[in-house]
Amino acid sequence: MTALDARTDTTTVLRFPAGFRWGTATAAYQIEGAATEDGRTPSIWDTFSRTPGKVRNGDTGDIAADHYHRVDEDVALMRRLGVTDYRFSIAWPRVQPTGRGPAVRKGLDFYRRLVDRLLDAGIRPVATLYHWDLPQELEDAGGWPQRETAYRFAEYAGIMADALGDRVATWTTLNEPWCAAFLGYGNGVHAPGRTSAVASLRAAHHLNLAHGLAARTLRGRLPGAAEVSLTLNLHAVRPCSQAPEDLDAARRIDAVGNRIFLDPVFHGRLPEDLVRDTAPVTDWSFVADGDLAAAAAPIDSLGINYYSPSVVGAGTSESPSPWAGAERHVRFEPAPGPRTAMDWPVDADGLYELLTRLRDELPDVPLVITENGAAYDDYADPSGNVKDPERVAYLHAHLAAVHRALADGADVRGYFLWSLLDNFEWAYGYSKRFGIVHVDFATQRRTLKDSARWYAEVIARGGLEG
Ligand code: NOJ
Repeated sequence: MTALDARTDTTTVLRFPAGFRWGTATAAYQIEGAATEDGRTPSIWDTFSRTPGKVRNGDTGDIAADHYHRVDEDVALMRRLGVTDYRFSIAWPRVQPTGRGPAVRKGLDFYRRLVDRLLDAGIRPVATLYHWDLPQELEDAGGWPQRETAYRFAEYAGIMADALGDRVATWTTLNEPWCAAFLGYGNGVHAPGRTSAVASLRAAHHLNLAHGLAARTLRGRLPGAAEVSLTLNLHAVRPCSQAPEDLDAARRIDAVGNRIFLDPVFHGRLPEDLVRDTAPVTDWSFVADGDLAAAAAPIDSLGINYYSPSVVGAGTSESPSPWAGAERHVRFEPAPGPRTAMDWPVDADGLYELLTRLRDELPDVPLVITENGAAYDDYADPSGNVKDPERVAYLHAHLAAVHRALADGADVRGYFLWSLLDNFEWAYGYSKRFGIVHVDFATQRRTLKDSARWYAEVIARGGLEG
């Protein structure tokens, strides 16, 4: 075959390894609804979304995609897609309403039923313990800036291990602690909406500690049984030039965006440059002896959520910024190219860059893409079709980047598409649709988008058309 033949041969398949995990992902507050049912108490997101001006259109997760009452239908959808795995999160205030003490049976039963349905459908359950819905009572007691919250989290992890440990394939302690710490406590665009640089750094540290304590608890209660993991939204940081001051801007964002989690979790240390950069904000005296060793409890895989890269150079950021002062000399530049409905640039190379970086820096750690996807302004046409060619193009490009990273030696075990359903997109409410299944929020009717059919074919084929 000549080079030209290879280019025009549309049947070329980018095949993924046998056993590659093909999944979809969701999170409790974004889809469940049933906010006051069966003993569930408010989380920080209930409080935040009810605070005027915090979430677009005043939207809340009170009903969301009503998944709490539609588990059977939603598992049946996944079965149609042929996914091998499903990543969901457990709402802490549903199972341990005050964040302390005994669990609520009805809350546990909901997740038991979900897991049973998944197993009946031949789908592996991948459970995240914390996808941002802290029980409000724990926030009232100080929230993540207080170390007590880390101990409470480890206790909750133990409750869930006892309840579901025999049936959950993978436990992820935290989802995107960067967002929980820096959007929640730094610039306040997420719950609980606090704006304090020192609180955000304290939160980041206690999230690392919580992760390590929970990982140890899970391991202790489930010897040898389950995979224990952590999901980070690592930033693919690119300097806008090779000038020393632009390289330094990229280094700062890498420290406070990435190494603030990677170094404690994988090496039991804080990045020295982060401590230097944040010296005007804190002396880090809230880090107690043994904390960093605890954060470094061994885990089995690292989850990566990737959407788009960050291009930075020397300059100043807008205020209030989430970066705890480390960005004082940094300017964020718009990356070129097409954008999603979030106004995020479409750039699959950033995912390749991240995966190959992790291949080099953490060669023994298996990687899983725990989120990747895109929001577009989808609608069902009069004949009930939802055409979303931009999403298909986005997914195709990013899966091709994963394939390229695999071919270049990155140990990537799976890919979870964000998201199964249109859902509550945090501060954007229902205005942004990430699902491959369209949800009409007035009727709760689910409709497969073209991207869902496309993804089902990719899974069935075990790869992409080249
Ligand atoms: C990451 C978060 O984990 C998820 O909850 C969110 O909806 C997506 N990014 C899209 O913003």
